Amino acid sequence: MGKKLIIGNWKMNLTIHEASLYVHKLADLVKIHQGVEVVLAPSHLALQPVSLQINYRQFKLAAQNFYWRDEGAFTGEVSAHQLRGLVQYALVGHSERRHIFNEHDKDTRHKVQAAYRNGIVPVLCVGETVSERVAGETRDVLHDQVTGGLANITSEEAAELVIAYEPVWAIGTGNNASPTEVRAAAKMIRTQLKHLFGEQVAESVRILYGGSVTLDTAASYLSIQGIDGLLIGGASLDAHVFSTIINNTHDQLKGIKERR
Ligand code: PGA
Repeated sequence: MGKKLIIGNWKMNLTIHEASLYVHKLADLVKIHQGVEVVLAPSHLALQPVSLQINYRQFKLAAQNFYWRDEGAFTGEVSAHQLRGLVQYALVGHSERRHIFNEHDKDTRHKVQAAYRNGIVPVLCVGETVSERVAGETRDVLHDQVTGGLANITSEEAAELVIAYEPVWAIGTGNNASPTEVRAAAKMIRTQLKHLFGEQVAESVRILYGGSVTLDTAASYLSIQGIDGLLIGGASLDAHVFSTIINNTHDQLKGIKERR
């Protein structure tokens, strides 16, 4: 098990004040672990104050969303250019963006390019709906979302990429995917990456699982071959739960190393 990436997606939760209290608590509870990279994704509003509060060796920041143009007359939007320097990562194509705000692969493609243009690592989120899974379309959906989101990027850029496999039916529902389903999906994604960018790049892309991850299930997902971390929504809002997941991940990695 290599280095793990754990992202807490707060979605539209926590005021600036609550975010600050949360980070204060989390910083006390989480140790700095070499083997675990922890990324927080607060609302846009809380990003700046949180950035002043955190130690970047302990936590990094991600934007939950952004608009792909760098600047201009786009009322209400925030660009990757404006987020430059503030965040190290940005989610792209989260299922809530795709399904509630009608984002398509064309949008995710523009956003992936905008993120790279501004020195931000995109976390491309992909995943099938329940009806697509039942219809046996999971492979096709993942293929289209991966290929659609990654057009016109170089192999060097692709090597840095993070992809989060989040089956739509598992997000916020308590219906988490089985390790077998997750392993199979991660394999499909990596095969697709291999076709697009070659074996070496495909191996260096980090693939995360997301969807109703809890304190009880985190370790089992992290031990799946081909899974490099977690994208956690609900369970990341409780500093005790989130810090325990992070500290347990460190212990899990250490245990594996010691057994070798
Ligand atoms: P969840 O959300 O952990 O609450 O299911 C995951 C996500 O949407 O990234």
